[in-house]
Amino acid sequence: MMHTVRFSVSIPAELAGAFDRLIEKHGYANRSEAVRDLMRDYLVEREWESGDHPVVGTATIIYDHRRPELGRALTRMQHEHHAAIVCVTHVHLDEHRCMEVIVLRGSAERVQGIGSALIAARGVKHGKLVCTTAGENLP
Ligand code: NI
Repeated sequence: MMHTVRFSVSIPAELAGAFDRLIEKHGYANRSEAVRDLMRDYLVEREWESGDHPVVGTATIIYDHRRPELGRALTRMQHEHHAAIVCVTHVHLDEHRCMEVIVLRGSAERVQGIGSALIAARGVKHGKLVCTTAGENLP
């Protein structure tokens, strides 16, 4: 069983109240669960800042497939970085709009670079890079 520690922190009552209301809304059973998630999130953020740390992430992009030059550019980019792309899921949202979820793995700098380039491609309507961790160092 994992060894746990207890610690107390002093924070303004208003901050505690706002935090409690928010975590309840998000479905946390108690403060400990919420604080654990915040701490892990903070640790994962540091992994991404280090640049060379191995990370995983997903780039989700929305675009209109009626722009053939965009489709070609996205495919070219993905082939260029095939070693960092684990898989791609393409969803035809309706007659014209497509969603692609690109799962990336590699150094934080590389994953960030590829994700940003895909999202910034001319014609992509919206995109988001979710930066997470393979978790090997995450307590
Ligand atoms: Ni499609």
